[in-house]
Amino acid sequence: MSTKILVTGGAGYIGSHTVKQLGQAGYDIVVYDNLSTGIPQAITYGKLVVGSLEDTNLLAATFAEHNFDAVLHFAASISVPESVADPLAYYSNNTMNTLNLLRQCQRFGVKKLVFSSTAAVYGQPAETHITETTHPQPLNPYGSSKLMSEQMIRDYSAASGMKHVILRYFNVAGADMAGELGQNNPKASHLIKATCNAALGRTSSINIFGTDFETHDGTGIRDYIHVEDLARAHVDALVYLADGGESEIFNCGYGQGYSVREVIDMVKEVSGEEFTVIEADRRAGDPAAVVAVSAKIKQMLGWIPRFNDLRTIVHSAYAWEKRSKALTVVPNIVPTAMPTNVISMETPVTKEQQLAVAAS
Ligand SMILES: NC(=O)c1ccc[n+]([C@@H]2O[C@H](COP(=O)([O-])OP(=O)(O)OC[C@H]3O[C@@H](n4cnc5c(N)ncnc54)[C@H](O)[C@@H]3O)[C@@H](O)[C@H]2O)c1
Repeated sequence: MSTKILVTGGAGYIGSHTVKQLGQAGYDIVVYDNLSTGIPQAITYGKLVVGSLEDTNLLAATFAEHNFDAVLHFAASISVPESVADPLAYYSNNTMNTLNLLRQCQRFGVKKLVFSSTAAVYGQPAETHITETTHPQPLNPYGSSKLMSEQMIRDYSAASGMKHVILRYFNVAGADMAGELGQNNPKASHLIKATCNAALGRTSSINIFGTDFETHDGTGIRDYIHVEDLARAHVDALVYLADGGESEIFNCGYGQGYSVREVIDMVKEVSGEEFTVIEADRRAGDPAAVVAVSAKIKQMLGWIPRFNDLRTIVHSAYAWEKRSKALTVVPNIVPTAMPTNVISMETPVTKEQQLAVAAS
């Protein structure tokens, strides 16, 4: 019998890339997503329960119907500025809903969890190269909401014997190399996506915040990880837990940084387009350089990055943004008898169907 996995937020950017790799590896997948930023067309395997983690009745019914071997928890709100403007919404959707999920893991005896955390938990560390033991000190409610979730997971694991893997993602970028999936969240304001949209003439310019950092070209340096490599880390984490691995935290990055200017230049080169670049002041709290030390995940999970190259990342992101208005995914999904709020992915779902189901 195949391993049954609950994937919260599986209709979103990183979740959908992971679902595809899980499906290809033969896992039996149930996605639980309220479609607040995700879209059902992005789910290429398994089935979809449309609902929020706030809805504890639906969540419990989903756990009761399936005997999950493990949970992958992606669902969250992800905008730092939005979290500063409305912190309670972030503590509610990210922290409280993680608690709701853990309660169901407790009730139904699920013993394995992989959690999507973020380099934002580290805040503005003194050192450039960040290890998993770097002291976490988030600078915004988004980072705090994730660190609090991590703490709950650790405490619950210690009390219950559940084993978890916490993956702290650095700057996730790029798109499915087969061109089927990419970033659909309109609130995503990540540099590579925003710069591709400037190249496509969808925005008038791109800002560089700070040109006087102590870096080789004065602009901030970040560690960009291709979304397919990140998805693979989740599959590796599941294998690790299935093999009896202990609870661990892993950084997800390449251990190599690129400056904002290098990213912008690469988008210009890949797209062949010119666009306006505005040099603005630094933003409060932006560190000069943040790069993951990724030795631990390579060593313990056997994770092997395949797309560790800025050109590949930008190429896939640009190709996706260019054709993102014409999303055509052919899902490989096996429908089964389902309650009314479960969408069979046998055929692509129309916007009207989505809205009808979401409203039901
Ligand atoms: N994108 C990044 O660069 C990045 C970096 C670090 C960490 N992360 C983390 O990765 C995870 C996935 O991020 P993403 O970039 O794919 O974002 P996304 O917005 O594309 O995906 C989030 C998914 O969760 C769903 N969702 C949100 N709230 C929900 C709720 N209450 N109930 C059910 N579903 C809900 C959304 O509809 C969406 O499908 C998040 O936990 C995020 O904090 C992302």
